[in-house]
Amino acid sequence: MNTVVVGTQWGDEGKGKIIDSLAKKVDAVVRFQGGNNTGHTVIVNGEKFIFHLIPSGILYSEKKCIVGNGVVIDPGVLLKEIEELQERGVKLDNFYLSGNAHVIMPYHKKLEEIEEERRGKMRIGTTRKGVGPAYADKIARRGIRVSDLLKKEVLLNKLRMNLKFWKEFLNSEFSCEKIWKQYLDYGKRLRKYIIDTSLLIHKLIQEKKNILFEGAQGTLLDIDYGTYPYVTSSNSVAGGVCAGAGIGPTCIDKVIGVTKAYVTRVGEGPFPTEVRGEIENILRERGKEYGSTTHRSRRCGWFDGVILRYAARVNGLDELVLTKLDVLDSFERIKICVAYKYGKRIIRDFPFQSFMWEKVEPVYEEMEGWRKDTSSLRNFKDLPLRAREYLKKIEEIGGIPIRLLSIGPQRGELLSID
Ligand code: IMP
Repeated sequence: MNTVVVGTQWGDEGKGKIIDSLAKKVDAVVRFQGGNNTGHTVIVNGEKFIFHLIPSGILYSEKKCIVGNGVVIDPGVLLKEIEELQERGVKLDNFYLSGNAHVIMPYHKKLEEIEEERRGKMRIGTTRKGVGPAYADKIARRGIRVSDLLKKEVLLNKLRMNLKFWKEFLNSEFSCEKIWKQYLDYGKRLRKYIIDTSLLIHKLIQEKKNILFEGAQGTLLDIDYGTYPYVTSSNSVAGGVCAGAGIGPTCIDKVIGVTKAYVTRVGEGPFPTEVRGEIENILRERGKEYGSTTHRSRRCGWFDGVILRYAARVNGLDELVLTKLDVLDSFERIKICVAYKYGKRIIRDFPFQSFMWEKVEPVYEEMEGWRKDTSSLRNFKDLPLRAREYLKKIEEIGGIPIRLLSIGPQRGELLSID
């Protein structure tokens, strides 16, 4: 069984915890896009782990953890993550890195900084990890791949070409020799993890192993389907798995969408259900809505059914996992966006024309809150009736069932729904 997990909003839906829970039942966890712009949080016995590059399945020593070719790698960050995990007693014997993944170079971070400054008010609000420029070099066919770090001459030639290409933007702080030596050293230290991950995944599929493909960011941050240009630079929808991990679409058995009981967004860009003031503060404080990578405070808003319907369509979602329901426990009334209004028109499908995103107004249905603590529940049947009605509404809007409910940050705080 090969399952894909994706975010249905603008990221930060709580995928890390869900993947950690689903990882229990699989043989391998694979990342297929993004870089260290993401941060998946897992809390085990009160101990907090934040994963930026390594699939969160690494906490189970027997699972294979694979970083596919579609991911961009900052080798310094990856090595630091490896060392920190090792210091905490986590074994990395089952960690594999694609030789075809592209590498984030020091100048990518600088180029991103320049680009964001240049945009001024139109800035994207990126994580400034160099992810976008690394993907840009990949698409422009001058990128440096992980396997290049193992070949002295190849690396030197590519590095020279790139520094020459970007010369007018970069000052002398980027010494070719220095970067070359540092990245050769990274290559040496990463060598034992580098393989053809597509082949490994293929073999696992042939052996009928269970594989979980771990999406980063979310549908509305996808380079093609998101709120372009306020998006990340990779395909974070389920389709990204095929190119980013090297498998065919016929190999995917199930697609799970993780959706938060309300919506957040980090960085700039349209956000139709965004709220300000008291509700914003409650959502942010109760939901601890601060970036796990950049520590920026996240913008908050009510649940948006239009984007859920969109995510269900473009990802081919089979089922949903609803997270952070407990954050809504104290509300007397809860709003849920069922459509958008554009002028006099009511729109049910997410508009493809970007000029509409800033102008649409959410059409809300209001529901009564349940005003009971759900975080201490251990059984779905004990969920207050009004909370169940909220779930039912979400299922109705998305046209897909919710199979799992997350009611707290700890590993066990999940209710399955049969
Ligand atoms: P980049 O991925 O660093 O290029 O940033 C592009 C946009 O995606 C910005 O709005 C970021 O805040 C957002 N973004 C990137 N990764 C994540 C994530 O893991 N969670 C939430 N937002 C993200």
